[in-house]
Amino acid sequence: MNMRIRLIHVLLVMGLGLLSSCGGEQGGEGPIVPPPPAPAEYADKRMPADWWGDAQKLEEGRKLFIGETNPDVNCASCHGKDGKPVKAGATDFRNPERMKLYSDSVWFWRISEGVANTKMKGWKSKLSEEDRWKLVLYERNFALSGKIWNEETKQWSEVGAK
Ligand code: HEC
Repeated sequence: MNMRIRLIHVLLVMGLGLLSSCGGEQGGEGPIVPPPPAPAEYADKRMPADWWGDAQKLEEGRKLFIGETNPDVNCASCHGKDGKPVKAGATDFRNPERMKLYSDSVWFWRISEGVANTKMKGWKSKLSEEDRWKLVLYERNFALSGKIWNEETKQWSEVGAK
């Protein structure tokens, strides 16, 4: 009897271990690797300073993200309406540990040019610069809500913090 309970215990622990190691892979999230720096032509692109708190731009970003503005541009079809990826390999925008490594210009660059050899294509032919910034604004809210990129400290920080 005792042996059986121990066996069940061992099996349970093994099962849990397996489950949690699979959990790390969900949503295509691999280990967190910082993105490369933005190339020269994007390095100086910045979110317009007065956009960070602009509810109207944010709402326009939301409509773009879910494909309401233009059905040909539907970020949510891979990244998920709530930022939880629905296509394997799509970046999970809800993870602050990952997303805090993306400056506003890196974010903008990736949306513009895409990521080579992945399903993430460049969107600059379909989206104006303004629309791409609205998308940065919206996507940053999944993990970094209320924060703005501070180019001096190279960090996302709370509005009003230095
Ligand atoms: C067909 C599926 C698909 C669609 C649609 C899509 N993405 Fe992606 N996206 C991906 C995948 C896959 C990755 C992960 C690429 C990688 O491995 O670095 C990604 C990564 C990203 C990243 C992070 C880039 C990086 O450096 O890893 C951003 C930002 C992003 N997408 C924004 C968007 C926006 C904005 C839209 C809509 C205009 C969009 N995506 C539409 C599949 C998609």
